[in-house]
Amino acid sequence: MAAIFKPTTAARQAIRAASQASIARPSIRAARPALSITTTRSLSTTPARFQNDDESKKRATTDAPQGASGAHEGAFARTDDRLVIEHPADEEMPRSPVVQGRGGMHFKRTLASFSLENKVSVVTGGARGLGLVMGQALVASGSDLAIVDLNKDEAEDQAKKLVAQFQKENPGLEELPRVTAHYADVSDPESVNQVLAQIVEQHGKIDNLVTSAGFTENFDAISYPYDRIKKLWGVNVDGTYLFATGVAKHLMERKAPGSIVMIGSMSGAIVNVPQPQAPYNAAKAAVRHLAASLAVEWAGSNIRVNCISPGYMLTALTKKILDENPELNRQWTSLIPQGKMGTPEDLMGAVTFLLSDASRYVTGADLRVDGGYTVT
Ligand SMILES: NC(=O)c1ccc[n+]([C@@H]2O[C@H](COP(=O)([O-])OP(=O)(O)OC[C@H]3O[C@@H](n4cnc5c(N)ncnc54)[C@H](O)[C@@H]3O)[C@@H](O)[C@H]2O)c1
Repeated sequence: MAAIFKPTTAARQAIRAASQASIARPSIRAARPALSITTTRSLSTTPARFQNDDESKKRATTDAPQGASGAHEGAFARTDDRLVIEHPADEEMPRSPVVQGRGGMHFKRTLASFSLENKVSVVTGGARGLGLVMGQALVASGSDLAIVDLNKDEAEDQAKKLVAQFQKENPGLEELPRVTAHYADVSDPESVNQVLAQIVEQHGKIDNLVTSAGFTENFDAISYPYDRIKKLWGVNVDGTYLFATGVAKHLMERKAPGSIVMIGSMSGAIVNVPQPQAPYNAAKAAVRHLAASLAVEWAGSNIRVNCISPGYMLTALTKKILDENPELNRQWTSLIPQGKMGTPEDLMGAVTFLLSDASRYVTGADLRVDGGYTVT
């Protein structure tokens, strides 16, 4: 198979370890040399794909013999298990900036139905990346906000910055939004119940939920350590389920309407290349269909559930990865009809629309914000 990445490039990359502050982040680079297949893997309960030297010359995923048209066949449409993407350790994780000047006071007419005034919204994974900027959109639209994250210090810091930014953009407003920060591990039912009770105690109620806590990592399927798959599904799928059901129960007890937005990914509809990430793709497909299923189940209770499926978004983290891997950057952007990655701000309108009355007849939908990636 034509190598998309030279060994020297591929060897610079590794995986994303679980991004949780409380979880030790083992060195996956050491556990998974980019181009040689090991027979033992300290983290894995999955047997190594190939067991001896001859076999190790074979590839673990989609390599195929050259066909009639040449070695290029399928080259850009396949995963490449030599590609390993390095995610920094949690303490080295780049901080996400609060977006400047994208909300706040303005004098352009818009529909009142987009307003989130008098609402309390919860964003999981809201200390960083997409969750942080979506939280900022909700505050700019009039909502109070509870940021839930594994990383409570960062959530607290960002909560203060969000209010300061709001104040700067809305000088003279007497009433400031209430933005609180909370610790939870979304994959732990007890932790979820505790944090929901804490939010209701502090804010009096919850109206809206955005589930943005999630992460991806890259292993070829056969080598993927099973304990890591369980962790990945635990945060991306169970975490979404636990928060959605917890908030829906609260809304039903109050007999109040509500709106839930689950952050899926275009990976729930297509298979990304060249990085292998089958369990993540499956997790995001589960999130998308969970939104549809719960939308039907809770329609009679006036609770809407929708999914946003972002494409490749340029967060502080993905920017760092792509700066280190220009070839990957070129390949990803070559596959996006709009020709560029999205920014977290590109989700601000989408999430506000789906949480607000502007979308009151929209439920069970999957809103793709991907620059056209999934339609080609
Ligand atoms: N960035 C992209 O290109 C992209 C594209 C499509 C979908 N997504 C999805 O969007 C969501 C947000 O991604 P991001 O790029 O902003 O990631 P990010 O790593 O920048 O932020 C994720 C946040 O979730 C928190 N988190 C992780 N595990 C948690 C847990 N168990 N409990 C509580 N909080 C936890 C992290 O501390 C972090 O603050 C994820 O679900 C991701 O899969 C991202």
